Parts: sequence; structure tokens; C-alpha cells
Amino acid sequence: MDKIIIVAIDGPAGAGKSTIARSVAARLGFLYIDTGAMYRAIALWALRTGTSLEDMHRLEALAVSADLQLDGPGKISLNGEDISDAIREPAISEAASKVAAIAGVRRALVEKQQLLGESTSVVMEGRDIGTVVFPEAQVKFYLDASANIRADRRAQELADRGQEVSVDDLVREIEDRDRRDRARAHSPLRQAEDAVYLDTSSLSPVEVEDEILRVVRARTSNGKSLTRQHVE
Ligand code: C5P
Repeated sequence: MDKIIIVAIDGPAGAGKSTIARSVAARLGFLYIDTGAMYRAIALWALRTGTSLEDMHRLEALAVSADLQLDGPGKISLNGEDISDAIREPAISEAASKVAAIAGVRRALVEKQQLLGESTSVVMEGRDIGTVVFPEAQVKFYLDASANIRADRRAQELADRGQEVSVDDLVREIEDRDRRDRARAHSPLRQAEDAVYLDTSSLSPVEVEDEILRVVRARTSNGKSLTRQHVE
């Protein structure tokens, strides 16, 4: 059996993690896991059920009992319902970063994430993959970009979904979210010491992907543990 390889991709909102992680996973033949979608799902459930975002115990209970299925790239269902589009609303981004500050919610979701990476090679993206979820991951990246570029990218992503949002509002939203993600007591966003830092501001997604694949090959026994399909 092939050795299991974990590729961890962390970084702030809008650094290009999702597009890049999804494509890198497809090129390696690994499972793609968007952990942000899991925090968003809990936020959506909380908002729908009128659960206060301060109610730590109730939010933890939601995270423990949530049946989350990652049904393919960009797809997620909560308790059997496809919520892939519903979780992309800006109100959910903000609520997700609030529920993500709660230790019990993180414990429950980290456990689910670790289970997903137990049986198969994965490209997992989030904020704490290289530091907390898989500190022993063979390859770790920290993707970054300036706040303005990140807001432009988010605006484009939302426009592609038919949502018009002002870039100024997005800059503010992204900066608020980053502040919360970096300042929280539990698993704050930070670069793992052994992560490769990539500033994607002036790079195309393909350039970032190529660099990531180059490092993955170099770090995984010169590609020996990867099948030909894994390395293209
Ligand atoms: O990646 P995305 O922007 O979809 O994540 C939404 C929110 O979920 C982030 O702002 C962050 O607060 C939280 N998150 C986290 N840890 C992760 C992934 C996401 O705290 N591993």
C-alpha cells in the first residue's frame, strides 16, 4: 500500500488556498479537504437554529453531532443537505471565524479532520493544519498575499457566484477575520516552523501549484513514495 502523505496548506483568508489546494490534490491524486467549509457549516447551523455565537456549550454540541460529508471538490453536506452554496455568504464567513474561536468546536472538528487523513493521502487546507491537525505532515505550506489582493480575489470569487460585494467592505471583512483568527487563544493562525512560506501576491495559481508540487516531490523520498499518477 502507498504511504499516506499529508500536504498541509495554511494561511489567511483569500490567499488562494482553496483554488490551489483543490488543483494540487487533483494533480497528485489525493483527497482535497477544505476545513474552512466545516467551520462554515457549524456557523450556518448555528445561525439557522438561532444559537447564540457566544453559547460555547451549545456550539460544541452542534460540532460534535454534525454529520459533515465532503462530497467532492467544493461540495459539502450537513446532516444530508447540500450546503455548498449557502456557506459562501459573507455573513457565514464572519460567523465561522467566531465559532472557530471556541475550543470545543475546534476539538470536535479537528477530530473529524484527523480521521479523514488517517486512511488516505490528502491535501488539507485551513488555518491550523500544519500546527495542530497534522503537526507531523510531511509537507507544509503557508500561503500569504496582501490584504488588497486577497479582497480582490474574494470579490472575483463572489462575482463568479453572482454576488456583488464592494471591495472596500471585503478588505474590512478580511482584516477583521484575520485579526480574530490570529488573536484567538486556541489554535491561532500562524505559520508552522517547518512550513514553506509562499507570497502569492504576484504569482499565478499555476505558478504556485508548480512550486508546491516541486516541494512535495522533493520532500517525499524524491517522489519514491508517490506513484507516477501522483506526480503526473
Ligand atoms: O477558509 P475559510 O475562509 O472558508 O474559513 C472560514 C473561517 O473558518 C476562517 O476565517 C477561520 O476562522 C475558520 N477556520 C479555522 N481553522 C481552519 C479553517 C478555517 O479556524 N482550519
